[in-house]
Amino acid sequence: MIKIAQPQIGQEEIDAVNSVLVSGQLASGENVKRFQEAFSQYLNYRSCIAASSGTTALEIALRSLGINQGDKIITTSFSFIATANVIVHAGGIPLFADIDETSMNISTESIEQILQVHTDVKAIVIVHLFGQSCDMDKIKGIASKYRLLLIEDCAQAHGAEWNGRKVGTFGEAAAFSFYPTKNMTTSEGGMVILKDEMTAGFASQLIQHGVKAKNQFEFIGYNYRLSEISAAIGLCQLKKLDQFNALRRENAAFYDKYIDHHNIIKPLEVAGTKHVYNQYTLRILNGKRDTFIAYLEQKGIGTSIYYPYSIPEQACYQSSDLLELEYDKRLEVTNRIKREVVSIPVHPGLIQDEIEQIVTAINKF
Ligand SMILES: Cc1ncc(COP(=O)(O)O)c(C=O)c1O
Repeated sequence: MIKIAQPQIGQEEIDAVNSVLVSGQLASGENVKRFQEAFSQYLNYRSCIAASSGTTALEIALRSLGINQGDKIITTSFSFIATANVIVHAGGIPLFADIDETSMNISTESIEQILQVHTDVKAIVIVHLFGQSCDMDKIKGIASKYRLLLIEDCAQAHGAEWNGRKVGTFGEAAAFSFYPTKNMTTSEGGMVILKDEMTAGFASQLIQHGVKAKNQFEFIGYNYRLSEISAAIGLCQLKKLDQFNALRRENAAFYDKYIDHHNIIKPLEVAGTKHVYNQYTLRILNGKRDTFIAYLEQKGIGTSIYYPYSIPEQACYQSSDLLELEYDKRLEVTNRIKREVVSIPVHPGLIQDEIEQIVTAINKF
């Protein structure tokens, strides 16, 4: 079976983990520090704080920016559920925007529509979905026009760019995930990115129970730290990230060139973006998605649907009192596209023979 995702773990990672195990220093230490510095260098940006997952990184980002009980926050309806859950964990109320049909990223028109109705919005959490940057000129324009805090969910977009600048460096805060299906992994893990150094100081405390000095806790925080084992893997993976992304882009370019089917829409790299293809997501038209998935499975090709449901239609949101009345009227594109999308393998572990097999199978569908 050709898998939809396959973490690329080499001897370097194994050796690095071994060294940590032998050292006896397993909790956050030198490797975590070095990983934070290396990530900060990679982004060419100041403050990076390692966290236990992408979810905790995003929550720390929101809390550090002062998101409070009842704050309204605009986000996309089409993402992994963590994007919205952290808003709720931080005490906020998510307002779900529709997506752009081409990029499947949050629609700036939909954001503006929400802002006409809600004049007291505090922040926007955007997601660079599938590895492609949102239109950061438009998003930054809206954030500054309406004085909104901007938080970037970069869980799927390590190394992705907008007009030559890496995502994660546009907002007041950003968060990355290092879950095994991402462009680089630490097993579980995440990174918080903060623009302001004071806020970053607060975030590093928040991530470890609000500690101020040994045995002194200034405020009530969490244990959201990354382990040394994970950081050691992360240091190796970060060195390979550009190469991983180059391979993902090569695989995507092959699909772009050779997949040719009248009922299938391929993803588009929007002008101004450098897409890093965490997912290569097709749209299967005419209600044929399920047949397509079964067909590929029978050919030994793994697929996955990101995402079959919008976030607000999940039971946990439907049963909450968080949703606005008639929120669903805004989500015309999401509600259509969620029935069409399916992601095919694009990871750097694919060999040419497998990619060709995938193209041939799809074109014969
Ligand atoms: C868009 C998005 N946001 C947040 C997360 C949460 O990251 P994690 O699984 O590391 O908590 C993920 C990934 O799983 C994601 O894809």
